Amino acid sequence: MKIFLDTADTKEIKAADDIIQLDGVTTNPTLIMKAGRDYNEALKEICSIVKGPVSAETVSLDADGMVKEGIAFSKIAKNIIIKVPMTIEGMKACQKLTQKGIKVNVTLVFSANQALLAAKSGAFIVSPFVGRLDDIGEIGMDLVREIKQIYDNYKFKTQILVASIRNPIHVLEAAKIGADIATLPYSVFEQLFKHTLTDAGIKRFLEDWDALNKTLKKK
Ligand code: G3P
Repeated sequence: MKIFLDTADTKEIKAADDIIQLDGVTTNPTLIMKAGRDYNEALKEICSIVKGPVSAETVSLDADGMVKEGIAFSKIAKNIIIKVPMTIEGMKACQKLTQKGIKVNVTLVFSANQALLAAKSGAFIVSPFVGRLDDIGEIGMDLVREIKQIYDNYKFKTQILVASIRNPIHVLEAAKIGADIATLPYSVFEQLFKHTLTDAGIKRFLEDWDALNKTLKKK
């Protein structure tokens, strides 16, 4: 499973990419607002750090506007891919951008039927939002399971990107289901490396090492 970072903060992207080579980055208007930066400048910098796909999200509500924004974003770097929302206009834009050779990530997907339509519209990536489904009492990962089954049934090439990830269990479940990509906030990325037994194990080894050295000095 590919690991993307879900952020527009280039410090976080550099930090994560130093630890494991990131497979890509997803951004959206909320994340760019948090980073407090010009969107195009941030995208340019992100694309200079990460070789894999970097998602840039359109804000127009009509297909023509999305296509226009998508074409402009695609000129920033070769690895930019365009996020459009799962709407009728979004799917028109998805087809048009795909026909122009620009890859599309269909975002804000909350049902398996939406994911089916995204694949039929030629999406390169589909983004089910698991955390937001959990928030309203549904089981986000069940949606990922359904999409995986449908895409396998019909051999759709659209990649499943699990978005709105809130904790390491979401990452684990995504990998067990066989999702193609998980996009993680930096906090969840950091959590994945941690285990109390790893910390306890290091502490114990260091204590034993010190004890051995004290014993050897006394001899
Ligand atoms: O990739 C989409 C993601 O940014 C949404 O996450 O936590 O705002 O639901 P969240």
